[in-house]
Amino acid sequence: MSSFKACIFDLDGVITDTAHYHYLAWQRLASSVGVVFDQADNDQLKGVGRMESLEYILAKSDRVFSPAEKAVLAHQKNEDYKNLIREISPANILPGIREAFDWLKAERWKIGLASASRNAPQVIRSLGIADVFDYTADAGAIPNGKPAPDIFLDVARAFGLKGDECIGVEDAAAGVAAIKAAGMTAIGIGDASVLREADIILPQTDFLLENGLKLLAG
Ligand code: BG6
Ligand code: MG
Repeated sequence: MSSFKACIFDLDGVITDTAHYHYLAWQRLASSVGVVFDQADNDQLKGVGRMESLEYILAKSDRVFSPAEKAVLAHQKNEDYKNLIREISPANILPGIREAFDWLKAERWKIGLASASRNAPQVIRSLGIADVFDYTADAGAIPNGKPAPDIFLDVARAFGLKGDECIGVEDAAAGVAAIKAAGMTAIGIGDASVLREADIILPQTDFLLENGLKLLAG
């Protein structure tokens, strides 16, 4: 029998392609303050919280921004992002994710959500999968963001499980680092050069069940 009892998912870029919408919104925000923001910058920010991401972008500017200005910019980015995800529906669930959920349920593993996004509850409702999760971490209540292990440990704690009984699935370098720091097994989805620290790296979600979960379950 498998020693794993839970699979903890990241949301943006794993369950649905909202990572792309975060990128678009950050890029527009950066350009509004005269900062160039490219794919390499975006890879640094995947999985990173809203204010930390904003700080990263503003650090590239030669202007100094007051806390009030930062609050306005963060709000602006979030409004832009919310507009981009307004039309999200179950059709936006990435390939292979439903099959993974079905298999996990059949195997009686717990399914958790560890997203840094404060929009996560809305996104999973729009995708029609809110009831799939046995526990959803509240990003606003987690003291240290990814790459700290806190959010993954919060989910494991809610399940009464140890780190080594959980698999985490991530598309972000910061997320993979968080999973490993939590003592869990990491499946990275995406670019192998970015996700080096993961135990298994898959190019896309289609492979998650056969080449990820089933392989680890043994
Ligand atoms: C993560 C995304 O899931 O959530 C980041 O990978 C994003 O790109 C972060 O910045 C915070 O999201 P939000 O929706 O709370 O601004
Ligand atoms: Mg992600």
